[in-house]
Amino acid sequence: MTTHPPRPVPDRPVHDTPARAKLSLPELAELKRRGQRIAMVTAYDAPSARLAETADVELVLVGDSAAMTMLGHDTTLPVTVDEMLMLTRAVTRGAQRPIIVADLPFGSFQISDEAAIAHAVRFVKEARADAVKLEGAGLMLSRVRAIVGAGVPVMGHIGLTPQSAVQLGGLKAQGRTAQAASRFYQDALALQRAGCFALVVEAVPAAVAAHITEALTIPTIGIGAGAACDGQVLVWHDLLGLSSGRVPRFVKQYADLSGRILEALEAYVADVRAGTFPTTQHTYAISAEELERFESGLPPSRR
Ligand code: KIV
Repeated sequence: MTTHPPRPVPDRPVHDTPARAKLSLPELAELKRRGQRIAMVTAYDAPSARLAETADVELVLVGDSAAMTMLGHDTTLPVTVDEMLMLTRAVTRGAQRPIIVADLPFGSFQISDEAAIAHAVRFVKEARADAVKLEGAGLMLSRVRAIVGAGVPVMGHIGLTPQSAVQLGGLKAQGRTAQAASRFYQDALALQRAGCFALVVEAVPAAVAAHITEALTIPTIGIGAGAACDGQVLVWHDLLGLSSGRVPRFVKQYADLSGRILEALEAYVADVRAGTFPTTQHTYAISAEELERFESGLPPSRR
């Protein structure tokens, strides 16, 4: 595991952080043109978003993975628009510079173009997201055109699309036959034509993702799609070792925060039980006179 020297995090409450200029979509596109790789991470709360911004990521995704990482569900399907709005609001309070993308949850965009526009607009107006992401191509191309037409930038998502895991045969690699690879290639081009500003490519062979990246003018953001993508995304909990259970093979875990948190919690529990926390350092004093006055007012049996 790679270890990195600790970097100072601005010790300010989130609301005191000076505003930094928001990265624009043309600037993001320029990164691809210059061959400069793009870093994206998921986040679901304000302090995490602040850390992601301090680490200088370009994109923060409020993923519907929150259903699993934050809300304890076993798939991404149950998370609601209201839950995603609350998480997105927290993230946009925590970070100013990165482009913040809210995932449209299952059921919020599939029904009609009108419903898709209405939900996308809520993420911008109520949660201050910069863009939304939606899974799939095919019938969803019309949703992309509709949302972009309404003025909300859209990030596409192809390959392993967890909202369709049942149709795809589970959470497993996609595009491993010539036919499937060429369908994703065509889908990627169609999503670009429909107006997406970037495209997540999940769990497809690196060689296929490389061809897709080469063919597109918009950036590809890979997850389990190899190093040729224009950028990479990882789920917060996977990256930091906060996930319970097995993580996909494409995850690189950069820390073991579960282990560190557990150590801290066990030390706290032990201190509480031993009476070694709190000490005078953690408590407030009262002057001898005030204490005496207080105690003289207590019932005689308590003095
Ligand atoms: O919901 C999510 O976190 C995602 C990423 C894995 C791309 O869609």
